[in-house]
Amino acid sequence: MHTCTYRCVVCLAALLLSIPAAGAEPRLEKCFDCHGADGMGKADPMYPVIAGIPAAHIEEAIYAYIDGARQCLREPRMCETVAALTESEVSAAAEYFAGLVREYNQEDFDAELAAKGAVLHERHCGACHVPPHDEDVGYAIGIPLHGQRPDYIRYAIGAYFGGKREPLLDTMAHEIQQLDDDDFDALVNYYSSYRSGD
Ligand code: HEC
Ligand code: HEC
Repeated sequence: MHTCTYRCVVCLAALLLSIPAAGAEPRLEKCFDCHGADGMGKADPMYPVIAGIPAAHIEEAIYAYIDGARQCLREPRMCETVAALTESEVSAAAEYFAGLVREYNQEDFDAELAAKGAVLHERHCGACHVPPHDEDVGYAIGIPLHGQRPDYIRYAIGAYFGGKREPLLDTMAHEIQQLDDDDFDALVNYYSSYRSGD
């Protein structure tokens, strides 16, 4: 008797949980077109890796696209897609992609530039941006950049630098403004040199 009641409660809970998940699915399918079901970014090198970004950061980014702090300068369909999401769909998408492990894309990189980038990263960016496998990634102030697609990082840095993307923190804007194009290239090579488990 006791077991039966327990089982019924479990079934009911499973049923209730499956309702919002089922509702969110068609929208997630749209994300898969560009970010991939594995969250690693597909086809166009501008489609970022979103696997392994902590959920709170994914939500923060999505709301930044919705309220215009971030603009979809190269791919308007990204902003159109997230503008149509309900709050619970935003949370469901964030939980889903946050739960995926960031594999690495084996991007090409220049070792000399990557070494220069590592130093710049430590000095200007490392306090907030930690690798995706770091045990503190959930508490880090910034989004993990290691293993991100190089074209996207280059574009995002340029957007902050040129005032086309509003950074959440003035501290980051300040760090970025101290660097030049060669420094950005070095940083991009450094983030591309990331291999899981580094
Ligand atoms: C048509 C392709 C496309 C679709 C569909 C799409 N995205 Fe994107 N997504 C992009 C591009 C391109 C960017 C970079 C936009 C920019 O900053 O200009 C992006 C950026 C993001 C970011 C920020 C990544 C970061 O590192 O800060 C998140 C999070 C994200 N998308 C989640 C989603 C979710 C969730 C969905 C589905 C509801 C979705 N995207 C649908 C192409 C797409
Ligand atoms: C004080 C903390 C802080 C520092 C220092 C910092 N950042 Fe950030 N960074 C953030 C936060 C928070 C975000 C996410 C919110 C936003 O878009 O501003 C972010 C986002 C980014 C993004 C977009 C990531 C994405 O996936 O869309 C890039 C690229 C970036 N930072 C590069 C840098 C670089 C390069 C440096 C060093 C020169 C740097 N940041 C230094 C806090 C920081």
